[in-house]
Amino acid sequence: MTEIRVGLLGLGTIGTGVARILIEQQVLISRRLGKNVRLVAAADRDLSRDRGLDFSGVRLTDDANDVVTADDIDLVVELIGGYEPARTFVATALEHGKHAVTANKALIAKHGEELFPLAAEKGVAIGFEAAVGGGIPCLKALREGCAANAVQSVYGILNGTCNFILTKMENEGADYADVLKEAQELGYAEADPTFDVEGIDTSHKLSILAAMAFGSKIRFDEVFTEGISKITADDIESAAELGYRIKLLGIAKPHGTNGNVERVEMRVHPTLVPVHSQMAQVSDSYNAVQVSGDFVEHTMYFGRGAGERPTASAVVADIMDIARVCSSDGGPDEVKHLAPAMGFVESERRDLETLAVADIECEYYLRLMVQDQPGVIASVTSILADHRISLEAMSQKERSEANSVPVIMLTHETSEGNLQAAISRIVGLQAVEEDVLILRKESAVA
Ligand SMILES: NC(=O)c1ccc[n+]([C@@H]2O[C@H](COP(=O)([O-])OP(=O)(O)OC[C@H]3O[C@@H](n4cnc5c(N)ncnc54)[C@H](OP(=O)(O)O)[C@@H]3O)[C@@H](O)[C@H]2O)c1
Repeated sequence: MTEIRVGLLGLGTIGTGVARILIEQQVLISRRLGKNVRLVAAADRDLSRDRGLDFSGVRLTDDANDVVTADDIDLVVELIGGYEPARTFVATALEHGKHAVTANKALIAKHGEELFPLAAEKGVAIGFEAAVGGGIPCLKALREGCAANAVQSVYGILNGTCNFILTKMENEGADYADVLKEAQELGYAEADPTFDVEGIDTSHKLSILAAMAFGSKIRFDEVFTEGISKITADDIESAAELGYRIKLLGIAKPHGTNGNVERVEMRVHPTLVPVHSQMAQVSDSYNAVQVSGDFVEHTMYFGRGAGERPTASAVVADIMDIARVCSSDGGPDEVKHLAPAMGFVESERRDLETLAVADIECEYYLRLMVQDQPGVIASVTSILADHRISLEAMSQKERSEANSVPVIMLTHETSEGNLQAAISRIVGLQAVEEDVLILRKESAVA
């Protein structure tokens, strides 16, 4: 039986999971592939830690360079994380004619556009299913299952930490800071949670999904990104009273004429979704991705977005996809039997513009702090009317001990530029505090 020989970089959470599957599911994998996947070597800075696995027959090293250049390895799995040295290790593996698989969304979002052409030049494959949605095979579904469609939108709850925090805030009426602390104690949030709670991790993933959906280049730096740290328990309650739940959503949509995609809308922010939608039911640390296409209509993929076993499952699925068509004794033509990594042949991927933030059209949730005195609300609504912004709903909370009271407004659709112009006039009113919370609403989620 032919085989593919694997070298692993990083024996942390996911690396250990991948090693576990390759060792414990060896027979199942061979039966599915008709060939063996053999773990030949693994590198980690700390080899003394007990991973509860029998590594006999596996070459262990603390120098990742030994793995990426070794002659007896066909496929390198990068599970170190971060930008560097992960980028250098993956690039070196590709340069040495090895296939690469990674779960590293930061790496693909930032350096994918240099790694894809390098892989193509060397006749090797690059897989990154686990980088988006953890164990959910959403990239394969988008790339292959939905290939017949012009994609009309992609929505995703892509960060388990944020979803866990928002769910707990809603269920317990608890404040953001308290829930974050608890999430950190439970290991759901990092000691430095910035990447997760400020939406950067979701932006990494959304930029990959958008490029795959619309045949564009990955433009992570251009994703409009806001995190969840300004959301209060009161906002969650107000949204619920209006029939909505707040989720950190990644949203991507195409813009153009005559069916040609010319610009790509990409945004990540806390979003009000209808409480009865499927997306609103995705709770705790679960993830979900909704892909809508012109023929298939709405499709939705749900599951564990992180964790050792689910994420390792997606990594090994990538290894198996490559192993199915490539083997130790194969040549560079073999990879042509794989679907293109980004769902479009490399020469057909376009360098599309990102839709300017001011041109984004959506409905808004506004939380204004206003002094409880006659005429203030009339002044605010008059400014909104000047900007042709109409209201779907409005509620004013009870007078608190402070002089200001929160006023919640839901607007109909308008552009971000128009809304911001109106807000800058509203905060100029003497009776309105400067700190306005702006959230966005999406009624089109399934
Ligand atoms: N954890 C998840 O649920 C999850 C889900 C989806 C995707 N991912 C992605 O999967 C990747 C791995 O995540 P993880 O959670 O497994 O991280 P992790 O637990 O921190 O594991 C990384 C391992 O790599 C080792 N390492 C770091 N630099 C190294 C180097 N230069 N040479 C050799 N070993 C090195 C680390 O050692 P030290 O501990 O000494 O630094 C650690 O053992 C990341 O890209 C992450 O974004 C993770």
